[in-house]
Amino acid sequence: MSYNTRMTDAIRFYDRALSRLSRRDLMKAAWMLGIAAIAPPLFERRAWAKPIFDAYPFTLGVASGDPLPDGVVLWTRLAPKPLEGGGMPAANVEVDWEVARDASFRTIAQKGTAIARPELGHSVHVEVAGLEPGRDYWYRFHAGDEISQVGRTKTAPPAGANVDSLRFAVCGCSHYEVGYFTAFRRLAEEHFDFVFHSGDYIYENRENGGRNDALVRQHNGGEPYTLVDYRNRYALYKMDRDLKAAHASAPFVMAWDDHEVDNNYAGDVDENDTPAELFLLRRAAAYQAYYETMPLRASALPRGSDMRIYRRLQFGNLIDMSVLDTRQSRSDQACGDGSRTGCAEALDPKRTMLGAEQERWLFDNLATMKAKWTVLAQQVPTFAIDRKSWNPDGRFSMDKWDGYVPARQRLYARLQETKAPNPIVLSGDVHMHFGADLKMDFADPRSATVGVELTNTSVTSGSDGADVATDWNETKNDNPHIKYHSSRRGYIACTATQAAMRADFKILDKVTVPDLPIKTGGSLIVAAGRSGSHTD
Ligand SMILES: [Fe+2]
Repeated sequence: MSYNTRMTDAIRFYDRALSRLSRRDLMKAAWMLGIAAIAPPLFERRAWAKPIFDAYPFTLGVASGDPLPDGVVLWTRLAPKPLEGGGMPAANVEVDWEVARDASFRTIAQKGTAIARPELGHSVHVEVAGLEPGRDYWYRFHAGDEISQVGRTKTAPPAGANVDSLRFAVCGCSHYEVGYFTAFRRLAEEHFDFVFHSGDYIYENRENGGRNDALVRQHNGGEPYTLVDYRNRYALYKMDRDLKAAHASAPFVMAWDDHEVDNNYAGDVDENDTPAELFLLRRAAAYQAYYETMPLRASALPRGSDMRIYRRLQFGNLIDMSVLDTRQSRSDQACGDGSRTGCAEALDPKRTMLGAEQERWLFDNLATMKAKWTVLAQQVPTFAIDRKSWNPDGRFSMDKWDGYVPARQRLYARLQETKAPNPIVLSGDVHMHFGADLKMDFADPRSATVGVELTNTSVTSGSDGADVATDWNETKNDNPHIKYHSSRRGYIACTATQAAMRADFKILDKVTVPDLPIKTGGSLIVAAGRSGSHTD
């Protein structure tokens, strides 16, 4: 009898015997579970309290996220066979968790028991509350006799309190096949206060369409469509030692872009114009796997093919951060997507990037910002990138805010109108570092500057890259608002103080060679109360 069958049979047996448990019944259940002896009630809370695993269940590591002044979300997922759907029986399983004030767990701050449920792939999301603000904590999980790795996390500073300084990273775009996740390893070594992930945590597609032995690693299987397909793809990524180290080093604030579902999808429209009702089935599977994999609060639990990930996080009087979702509710890309010149559809004010509900939520919030830095943490660049020297017929990418021009103008106008303090927009997606001043009219360098955008390059996507994009020499002249650029892989390390926001653009020489050292390719500084950025 297999482990799974044995467990399922045991649960059925339990259901029948619940009201008349005898010692003989318990012994029979014990035999089915492969447990030699049973002590107290086996199925208290109808969950398996003392599971015995065929293989180590904490293969996907641990994570924490969305710090509040009094708590964080702790995450893990039981997966003894991570690449085969997880390998857990169809039953609830108890997972104990503990949060300590020290790395060796001498002083326990909180502990409890969560239930890993088959409906959520035996993932666990613990919303710990009652912790002290602005403090380091360490956490781990136990299931049966197994113990997880230890993660370090940090709560947010007290609401409204004076905060001198915070350090955070911005990262995203890790394609498993084209490089090693060294950027995650180096990010882990910096022990940030928090990390914003701008999306493309996995890639659904195979590099070059299939197996290619020139790639440094291979994806498991083809393009995912079902929940189990997506679980297996996430598991492959989650087993990466560098990614595990990154999550264990700091709380993550997660957002998605397109590749968590399908390249360049827009709302209910996929890359291949599949009928919307069919694509939404796939989107539901992908969103569920995303929820199961990320340290997100229950407020993000998917409902069918919808999932709310836009939210607001505050860090004392220093940072007020709105996490945005530019995929789920956007209009389809204009003029058939790709790069276009003179696309009239991109100027249609009826088209939306955030959807009406999220836009209203954000615009209302912007009127209430009081912290020193207003941070909009999102996915695709809002600033214009005019690549006319590279392709006169395709100067602007229709997948970015360049394809949603009136939506961008509404956002920038709202920033001006509300005087939200010192706007900093974060983005990723384009696999290049950029630092750019945000202009009310990008065609007019003398127009007002409404904020600064920091775009993180990829962790690996695009593989090793180059110092600069091939068309950079011309592009920089056509885009004077862009103040920094690099086409290497890495992440951004940001230091926010009451006086300035400093962005150190971290880069690696190569990602096809593991474990290289990280360098600072350049730095931008935004002085509080002044418009625009300057290089260090
Ligand atoms: Fe990407």
